[in-house]
Amino acid sequence: MTIRSLGYLAWSTPDIDAWTTFARRVLGLMQVDGPDADARYFRIDDRPYRLVLTHADEPGPSAIGYEVVDDLKLAAVVDRVKDAGIQVRTLSDEEVQQRLVTGAVRFRDPGGLPIELFHGPVLDHVSLDTPNNIQFVTGELGLGHVVVGVAHLQEFSAFYRTVLGFRLRNTMRMERDGRTRTTHFLGCNARHHTLGVVDLEVPGQVLHIMLQVSTLDEVGAALDRCREFDVPIAMSLGRHTNDRMVSFYCGSPDGLRVEYGWGGPLVDDDTETTYEITKSSFWGHHPPPAQ
Ligand SMILES: [Fe+2]
Repeated sequence: MTIRSLGYLAWSTPDIDAWTTFARRVLGLMQVDGPDADARYFRIDDRPYRLVLTHADEPGPSAIGYEVVDDLKLAAVVDRVKDAGIQVRTLSDEEVQQRLVTGAVRFRDPGGLPIELFHGPVLDHVSLDTPNNIQFVTGELGLGHVVVGVAHLQEFSAFYRTVLGFRLRNTMRMERDGRTRTTHFLGCNARHHTLGVVDLEVPGQVLHIMLQVSTLDEVGAALDRCREFDVPIAMSLGRHTNDRMVSFYCGSPDGLRVEYGWGGPLVDDDTETTYEITKSSFWGHHPPPAQ
């Protein structure tokens, strides 16, 4: 596959201090210094950061970063993105240094979302020291997954499959808000999905990100920290029918949902077939009761 994994999320928020507390104290990310003194960087593994927050008046992604193996792979995928009629900009030396990568490009995907493709993360070799000693599941599986809403699901999904080399792992059709909505779950490594796409009448927007931890107890402890810090639970503990993950969803200070999960088998493309699900969860994942 062309894209190796989800590498980083650069998120802009009007609530950077509250987000920082949420990231450190609730999610258990390790805050570190980075090249931009005004930004907040967070590590969960050996990478220099997986989440970087910057200030903005409106919340939203400033970049969704996907990793490719090297400069040659990057050049090849850039050619394909350009052939698809999308303008691609190579990041300047200064921008690349800010991102702590060796090379990167930037473009808008068919949903209008800001995408960066990069290679060569710059490692600092400082040992990971997360609050609460949480072990996140990353490595070749990448940061986790991101789920987005877009207005033209078929076009969007086709771009990620045919141009960026993602594999459609499963679809979902469900009644929501009085109409049938389709979701595509796309993978680029052995994690079941790195990208979920929901058919909505909106310009591209990030609906949630998922962080995977190594034990069920770490999920339970995070639930306790949500309670301690009055963080709203957007979806109760449950088990998904596609990636089999046991997870819950909580609300960040600016409304971005974070799914915090454990478990789920790895996907082998030689044996996995594409399937449709009609229920997102075996059990749980209930919204909070109406007040
Ligand atoms: Fe998810």
